[in-house]
Amino acid sequence: MSVFILGIESSCDDTGASVIKDGQVLSNVIASQEIHRVYGGVVPEVASRAHQEHIVPVVETACKLAQTELKQLNAIAFTCGPGLIGSLIVGTSFAKGMATALDIPLIEVNHLKAHVLSHFIDDPKPTFPFLCLTVSGGHTQIVLVKDYLNMQIIGQTLDDAAGEAFDKSGKLLGLEYPAGPVIDKLATQGKAVFTFPEPQLPGLDFSFSGLKTAILYFVREQVKKNPKFIGINLADICASIQQIIAVILINKLQKAANQTGIRNIAIAGGVSANSELRRQIMKKGCDLNWNVFIPKMEYCTDNAAMIAITGYYKYLDKQFAVAEVRPSARLSF
Ligand code: KG4
Ligand code: ZN
Repeated sequence: MSVFILGIESSCDDTGASVIKDGQVLSNVIASQEIHRVYGGVVPEVASRAHQEHIVPVVETACKLAQTELKQLNAIAFTCGPGLIGSLIVGTSFAKGMATALDIPLIEVNHLKAHVLSHFIDDPKPTFPFLCLTVSGGHTQIVLVKDYLNMQIIGQTLDDAAGEAFDKSGKLLGLEYPAGPVIDKLATQGKAVFTFPEPQLPGLDFSFSGLKTAILYFVREQVKKNPKFIGINLADICASIQQIIAVILINKLQKAANQTGIRNIAIAGGVSANSELRRQIMKKGCDLNWNVFIPKMEYCTDNAAMIAITGYYKYLDKQFAVAEVRPSARLSF
């Protein structure tokens, strides 16, 4: 008998729903919240209200596109954390209500583990064990993945996430939120002519706060000399920022690969959509004989298919949530 899972994602500002059948995606719907652009960041209160508006039509559309009737669903997987608590509550409450009404099991999903398992949505799928560099707006971690449901963090950021480094740098350049994709686009017209220091942190942990300060001081200094500096050099500044962030990430990943002896290397999360990071990891992979896994663009940033696929593996392992399950903004890994 086939297994149908509905996945629901609501950890930040995107409301997502996806139906998968035996691990194959039938639909993957996302409603993004453009409203946060004008505020220069996600406003939690606004995000939770928008989730409330979007969740019913998004789930209905996902089921319709998948040509799946509610009675065919075997379980509902939802993002339990980490994320914005108000946003998580909307998805969790909806999932709980729907699972109760349909009398089917509920499956709680850790958003960050789901980013890792986004590699099992499409082919080619990595073989175990593999290393996954998860780089998102709130997290930067190197994960040692031993099995679908057995993974551990072996390195992570001690301060800002890589996505924050993009978003905060963009803010000081006057770019709209989220700045990652904007910097990526502008960088295509520029050259990485400005150099920024790579933090010398021992071990596999990252730090991006020093880079953020270095970029701030550099821009301030140059603007003092020439008030039009940003406008004239925007593409080159973007290319330089993108270049150093990618170098920092890839060098740590290389260190992790050396330490563990693992050559199956994956990247995931919103920042894995970055063209320079993708270029650098492909190059490094060629040089060092790695098997590199890069998700499709639609599965890099937040999506519900990754929640559904994680739900699928938990379903097969009979890992169901208790009725009292509550979301957690700081859900541990
Ligand atoms: O995984 P994600 O969609 O949401 C979180 O779980 O945080 O990641 C969002 C982050 C934002 O910081 C955004 O600026 C960044 O991913 N991002 C990018 C690109 N696309 C999204 N950063 C650099 N280059 C991109 N092309
Ligand atoms: Zn995410």
